[in-house]
Amino acid sequence: MSNEPRKVLILQGSPRKNGNTALLASRLAESARLTGAQVESLYIHGMDIKPCQACWKCQDPAAKGCVIQDDMQQVFPKLIEADAWVIATPVHWFNMTAQTKLWMDRCFALARYGKRPFKKNIGILIAFGDSDAFRSGAVNAIRCFQDSFNYVGATIAGIVYASATKAGEIGENAEVLAEAERLGKKLAEM
Ligand SMILES: Cc1cc2nc3c(=O)[nH]c(=O)nc-3n(C[C@H](O)[C@H](O)[C@H](O)COP(=O)(O)O)c2cc1C
Repeated sequence: MSNEPRKVLILQGSPRKNGNTALLASRLAESARLTGAQVESLYIHGMDIKPCQACWKCQDPAAKGCVIQDDMQQVFPKLIEADAWVIATPVHWFNMTAQTKLWMDRCFALARYGKRPFKKNIGILIAFGDSDAFRSGAVNAIRCFQDSFNYVGATIAGIVYASATKAGEIGENAEVLAEAERLGKKLAEM
C-alpha cells in the first residue's frame, strides 16, 4: 500500500438524511477519517441521476463516457478516483432502494474508463425494518451486490446490516455501530 491517504466515497441511497443507513455511514466515515482516509459522502437521493437508457454508447471503444447529461457526470470522476466505495442503502420493497439501483445501472458506463475502473474495495451498509434479514429482503440486496461486484472484479471488504425502523433507531445497536466503525478503519487501511 502507498502512503497516500485512501479515498473513500460514500453513496448514500436513503431518502432519509438522518436515517439509519446515514448513521451507519457517518460512523464508518468518522472512523475512516481517524485512520487517515479522505472521505466524501454523496446523498444520491438529492441528485439528478436518470435511469440508464441502454443505448450502449458507453461501451463503444471510442466512447468518452455516458451520454446522459445529469449529475452522474460529476459522480463518475469521483468513482474513478476513489479507492473504496461505500454503498449505504435501506431495504425498500425487499431490495436496495430505487435511488441506489439507478446509480448502479449507470456504473455500466465506467467499463471504458481506464484499465481497471472497478478495482475498488467495497463496503456495504444496509438497514431494514423486519427483525429477520432473510424475511426483510436484505439478503436480496446483499446477493445483488455480491454478484455485481464479483462480476466486475471489485473486492467486497465488508457488509454491515441490521434491523431498525424509525430514523436513527439503529443508534441503539452498539454492536452494529462498532461493526461500521471497524469497516471504516479497514477501508482506510486497505
Ligand atoms: C418504501 C419503503 C419500503 C420498505 N420496504 C421494506 C422491506 O421490504 N423490508 C424491510 O425489512 N423493511 C422495509 N422498509 C423499512 C426500512 O428498510 C427501514 O425503516 C430502514 O431502517 C430505513 O433506513 P433509513 O433510515 O436509512 O432510510 C421500507 C421502508 C420504506 C419507506
